[in-house]
Amino acid sequence: MGNPGDMLKPVTGAATTATGLGGVGEAVRGEFPILAHATYLNACSQGALSHRVRAAYEEYLAGWDENGAEWEFWVERAEAARAGFAELLHGEPDEVAVTTSVSQGVNAIMSALPFERGGRNRIVISEYEFPTVGQIAHAQELRGAEVVHVRPEPDGSIPAEKFAEAIDERTALVCCTTISYRTGHRHDVAAIAEAAHAQGALVLADSYQAAGAIEIDARALGADFVTGGTVKYLLASSGLGFLWVRGEVLAGLMPTQTGWFADEDIFRMDISDYSPHATARRFDAGTPPVPNIYAGVAGLGLLQETGVPTVEAHVGALNTRLIEGLSGMGATVVTPANPARRGPLVCVRSTDAAALVASLAEERIVCSLRDANLRVAAHFYNTDDDIDTLLDGLTRRRHLLA
Ligand SMILES: Cc1ncc(COP(=O)(O)O)c(C=O)c1O
Repeated sequence: MGNPGDMLKPVTGAATTATGLGGVGEAVRGEFPILAHATYLNACSQGALSHRVRAAYEEYLAGWDENGAEWEFWVERAEAARAGFAELLHGEPDEVAVTTSVSQGVNAIMSALPFERGGRNRIVISEYEFPTVGQIAHAQELRGAEVVHVRPEPDGSIPAEKFAEAIDERTALVCCTTISYRTGHRHDVAAIAEAAHAQGALVLADSYQAAGAIEIDARALGADFVTGGTVKYLLASSGLGFLWVRGEVLAGLMPTQTGWFADEDIFRMDISDYSPHATARRFDAGTPPVPNIYAGVAGLGLLQETGVPTVEAHVGALNTRLIEGLSGMGATVVTPANPARRGPLVCVRSTDAAALVASLAEERIVCSLRDANLRVAAHFYNTDDDIDTLLDGLTRRRHLLA
C-alpha cells in the first residue's frame, strides 16, 4: 500500500471533466434523459440522472475491469468528494467527513455524546426531523438520553423561540433540519443555534433538502454539524453523504461508532488502540463507497458548473410561479410563500395525496407525497413549462386538492 500523502496528489483521468455545461432550464435539459419523456419535479426524493453521472459509474467499472484494484485512485476519489463537499459548504476539507448516509454521520455524532442520566442528557428535536434523526435520537434513550420534541405552530412553522423554550442546561444536542422534508418550511438555524450555544448545547442541521439547491455556508449557518447526501439536489445516487463538523468542537468529540478510515493513519493498520484522526475524518467509517463517490463527484461537478446561487435563484422563481398558480386556484399551500422561509420544496394539501400522485404519474408528471401533502421539488433543469404542465394537471384534478 502506498504512502498516505499519495492520496492527495492530482490524478489524471479523473471521473469528471468539466465541459462547461452551465446555465439553467433549457440550457441543461439535454443532460438529463428523463426530461425528454417526463415532467420531473421530484428532486426531494431523487435528482434526475444525467449523462455525466452515468458515465462516472461506467468509468468506475472500466477502471476495475482494466486495472483490478485501483486502490490509491479510489482513495484519491474519496478526497475529491471531501473537497467537493467542502467547496459546496464553503468550508475546508478537514472539516468534512465522507459518509455513506446521513444515518452514519448522525450515529457517529450521537456516539460521541455521553448522555449521562442526571447530567447533560437531553436531545431536542424538531417535529420535522427525518425519521433517521428522530429514531437515532430515541435509540439514545437506551444510553440514558431523554428526547424532547418541538412541535409546529398552527401555521406549520417552528419559530426559533419554540426551540429556545425547549433548550436548557441539560440539553446536549439540538436537531433542527434546515428544510422540512414534510412541509418545505425553512428553520432559522442561526437563531436556534444561538439559543442552543447560550446553554452549552451542540446543534445538528440535517440539510439534505437544502444542499445543492440553496447556498449553505456551513459556518454562517451556525450549527456545529451540517449533514446531507447526494441523492437529491446533488444529482447523484444513494450511498454517499457528508458531515461538516465545526473545528472548535472537534477535539472534544470521540465517536465510538467508527471505522478504520477514521484512524489518524489508516495505512498503519494498528489494532492496539483507538486513535481517531485529528480532523473531521474521525467521523468517516469503513472503506469509502467508491462507486457512489464517482457518481457524487460527477453530480457535484455538474452542479458547480452552474453554481448553487444560480440554481437557488432559478428554483426560487419556479416556486414563486407555482405558489402563485396554486393560490390562484384556491389550493392550500402548506409551504410559506415568503422565499426566505422556504427552500426548493413546495407542499400543497391534498384530499388524497396517494391518488393525486398516481393520477399525475399517468401523465408522466412525477411528484411525491408526505402525510396529506403533494410534494413538488423543482431543480435547475426544470422550466416554467414544467410548472405550467403541473398546474394544468392540478386544475384538472382540483377535487384532489384541499
Ligand atoms: C431531510 C432528510 N434527511 C435524511 C434523509 C436520508 O437519510 P439517510 O442518508 O440516512 O438515508 C433524507 C431522505 O432520504 C432526508 O430527506
